Amino acid sequence: MKICCIGAGYVGGPTMAMIAHKCSGHTVTVVDINQARIDAWNSDKLPVFEPGLDEIVAGARGKNLFFSTDVDTAIREADMIFLSVNTPTKTYGVGAGRAADLRYIEKCARKIAEVAENDKIVVEKSTLPVRTAESVKRILESNSNGRKFQILSNPEFLAEGTAMADLEAPDRVLIGGDQTPEGKAAIQALVDVYATWVPRERVLTTNLWSSELSKLTANAFLAQRISSINAISALCEATEANVDEVAHAIGTDSRIGPKFLKSSVGFGGSCFQKDILNLVYLCEHFGLPEVAAYWNSVIEMNDYQKHRFSRRVISTMFNTVSDKKIAVLGFAFKKDTNDTRESAAIYICKDLLEEQANIAIYDPKVEVAQIQRDLGIDADNKYVSYCDDAYEATKDAHAILVLTEWDEFKALDFKKIYDQMQLPAFLFDGRNLLDLEALREIGFEASGIGKG
Ligand code: NAD
Ligand code: UDX
Repeated sequence: MKICCIGAGYVGGPTMAMIAHKCSGHTVTVVDINQARIDAWNSDKLPVFEPGLDEIVAGARGKNLFFSTDVDTAIREADMIFLSVNTPTKTYGVGAGRAADLRYIEKCARKIAEVAENDKIVVEKSTLPVRTAESVKRILESNSNGRKFQILSNPEFLAEGTAMADLEAPDRVLIGGDQTPEGKAAIQALVDVYATWVPRERVLTTNLWSSELSKLTANAFLAQRISSINAISALCEATEANVDEVAHAIGTDSRIGPKFLKSSVGFGGSCFQKDILNLVYLCEHFGLPEVAAYWNSVIEMNDYQKHRFSRRVISTMFNTVSDKKIAVLGFAFKKDTNDTRESAAIYICKDLLEEQANIAIYDPKVEVAQIQRDLGIDADNKYVSYCDDAYEATKDAHAILVLTEWDEFKALDFKKIYDQMQLPAFLFDGRNLLDLEALREIGFEASGIGKG
């Protein structure tokens, strides 16, 4: 089979690399309108950092995996077309700030309608509002000229930083499609792709709408657990309970389970906030304001957690950070990725810049230009500096903020760091990554999240 994927981003690239790696009988072409991104996929420095990705791409690229900007040819030649374009929160017009912006998906559907010469299976890989397949289908069918299109929903559940491991051994693969004979045949064609390496019982098939809605629901449930434990972290700080101990205690209840209970400075990433806002908007659209308000509170709690952290930094540092040097360790939204979308670090840094702090940022993978875009600042902004390592960032600093849980921060020589800092040396661990007792023994005024 010839497979095409439109969108060579954090999902399209890794997902298609895994399909090509596992299915040597299929040819996979990933296309994008972004020439720089495609050039990077064809180079030694891939545009996405993911552990294990380089090896998989190197093994398949040029054999049965191709990256190209020739969208039309790839569509024309494909039997199956994945749509993996971005679906960000709308910033304009009706639903601004909440609804998903579906213009890229619609452009893809129109492009397929324009250039396809024969029947195609079109697979929604992007995360979409429930019932989007209906619009995709209408666009395709109203321009069909006798060609037949089957629309499938196949949402992606990978998490960044562990994308390759998640793709190699997914908890499940979800495929939704029409329950007609043609729809079922299309579902089967996609099941066959995944069944090459995913145990068949882990490939779930549903109707289109259940599949579309399951993706938004999964992200809402995951984010809800983080907001719930973060809410409890505030209560821990007021009562001398320890949120890590509380999380462990409740997580051993098999009905609750231990995962996704790590209290933090707030969740980030390109998905959780966007997808919950989208869910909230859908609920309002369908006349369900109570349901909308319930899920919206997950976002509100996350905003509260981020700004609560900034406020605590400022109040602990004698109510002023003006002209003080603050070392920010970690800018990515989680470890093992170069992605900064919705990273809590962006919000914390902006809060501190408003207070006229001097910020020295170090992240092992995030590029300086990305940080500048995220903070909306020029290269010559005098309040922000960029460092090559944690030692440079913390030199003469008044405080350290740990905002991403990079493993290398655990191995730092904190005695050496303490000796080069201003006193009292404050450390705020926004990830509960470090041993606070050991830091206090060195002399740090160290605090974590939800720890008395
Ligand atoms: P991304 O922004 O990294 O990549 C999207 C790519 O699509 C971009 O390179 C863009 O240039 C390209 N594109 C947009 N319109 C195009 C068009 N008309 N023709 C060709 N290319 C076009 O986004 P992403 O993080 O890969 O996310 C893609 C989708 O997957 C989103 O719907 C997202 O919600 C969903 N998703 C993301 C993750 C994640 O961890 N990032 C996980 C699961 C699902
Ligand atoms: C998420 C979903 O996990 C994934 O299934 C979906 O396909 C895309 O969205 P991602 O955003 O890449 O994946 O990473 P994830 O591991 O979910 O982390 C999201 C944010 O939550 C990060 O900022 C992370 O640090 C934070 N987090 C996660 C916590 O604060 N505590 C936790 O216990 C887990």
